Amino acid sequence: MKLNLEKVEKNIFENLNDYINNGETFQGADGIVFHYDRKITAKLFTGSPEEMKEKSTIQYGLSKICFENEISVPEPYSLIENRDIDLDEGQIALPTKILLMERIKDGKEVPNLQNYEFMPQRRRRGNLSKKHLGFAREQYYEQLKKIHDLGIVVEDSSLFWNTLYSPKRKKLYFIDQARWYFGDNNQLDLFNGRIEKKYRLF
Ligand SMILES: Nc1ncnc2c1ncn2[C@@H]1O[C@H](COP(=O)(O)OP(=O)(O)OP(=O)(O)O)[C@@H](O)[C@H]1O
Ligand SMILES: [Mg+2]
Repeated sequence: MKLNLEKVEKNIFENLNDYINNGETFQGADGIVFHYDRKITAKLFTGSPEEMKEKSTIQYGLSKICFENEISVPEPYSLIENRDIDLDEGQIALPTKILLMERIKDGKEVPNLQNYEFMPQRRRRGNLSKKHLGFAREQYYEQLKKIHDLGIVVEDSSLFWNTLYSPKRKKLYFIDQARWYFGDNNQLDLFNGRIEKKYRLF
């Protein structure tokens, strides 16, 4: 997709307070997620500067590798930091890393079938039909195999966690790569070989 990323990046840093405090956000273990617009989702990494750098770099790099290998992840657009941006005088620039990616607009969390029947209707978040649940499950195993074949270890993404299903596209997305890693250290060369120099690991 053609995007004017430069404009988006400037806009995000200039209005970050608004996005975080006045919009809809999802607070997770590694960051704060908000939707920039209909097409772009932003994940602002939190934690110590080292943690933030590591998690954001890993998610950006691994999602890029996955996307290039036709694994179903939101397309990663860029990893930005506020020191790259010329802020107006007086604006505070704490180090911040933000990943911009494709927004899975109609993405639904797949409900955990083990307790699905016992959930009150309003808590069946995804409310997906049996047919869609079947598609989601099939894709989950297919995609996971492809990810493993790249040498990537995934411990935190199940059908009910860190994935979103789009009924419109009939597609399951793995949305969170921050805690994935290569099982074999040699694979780091692959990672570093595919990513811009400033984002390389080691
Ligand atoms: N590309 C995306 N499109 C639409 N929604 C998204 C996207 N990425 C993240 N989200 C929303 O933000 C939530 C948190 O995202 P994510 O899992 O990446 O953050 P996290 O900090 O790792 O959170 P957690 O600790 O819950 O795993 C998701 O459950 C989802 O609702
Ligand atoms: Mg997550």
